[in-house]
Amino acid sequence: MPVKQAEFLVSNSDPAKCPPPDRPEYAFIGRSNVGKSSLINMLTGRTSLAKTSGKPGKTQLINHFIIDNAWYLVDLPGYGYAQVSKTEREKFAALIDGYLTSRPNLLCIFVLVDSRIPPQKIDLDFMTNLGERGLPFVIVFTKSEKLGPMKIGQTLDTYRAKLLESWEEAPPFFVTSATTAAGREDILSFIRPLNED
Ligand code: GTP
Ligand code: MG
Repeated sequence: MPVKQAEFLVSNSDPAKCPPPDRPEYAFIGRSNVGKSSLINMLTGRTSLAKTSGKPGKTQLINHFIIDNAWYLVDLPGYGYAQVSKTEREKFAALIDGYLTSRPNLLCIFVLVDSRIPPQKIDLDFMTNLGERGLPFVIVFTKSEKLGPMKIGQTLDTYRAKLLESWEEAPPFFVTSATTAAGREDILSFIRPLNED
């Protein structure tokens, strides 16, 4: 079932000023330029609900969107991209951290990774940190249309093996493309039952 209504609510740099935590919330997190904002547009079927850019560091604030008046999607700044200045990186990291510790309604974090890139320490460390805090997350592989099915399968296998080196099980994986809308129904079908609980 597609999203009927999607509206931008508020951007801010202070987690305390986010909307009241009165609805289920899902956040999109990952390195700058991985495709967080594009994925939010793809899921909601809007072309420019979230602002995107070819240049890393586009999203600089915590952005709340309300979907079907029932749940929140959150677009966050990226972490750890070398082309973003160290000061910016630290600022974004602090903002993400403040956000993560302040949202009791955050039901799942979507950690985005580029399908074309092998597992990176920064992403694995970020996931470990989420796990240690008991924050539920899934992994979303972006830009998948750039790879053939064989390569995608290899990427997933490599990631799974890497995670199983330190975890008993791997979180759910979603393979997506903002260009072809691949993975859209999979993600929406994952979110919907969580909204009902
Ligand atoms: P920051 O806000 O800077 O952290 O980046 P972001 O993660 O929000 O990335 P954004 O959605 O702005 O996309 C970054 C670039 O990747 C843009 O040029 C997008 O057009 C491109 N992009 C995003 N998703 C896809 C995809 O599925 N396929 C392809 N080919 N390009 C994509
Ligand atoms: Mg963005």
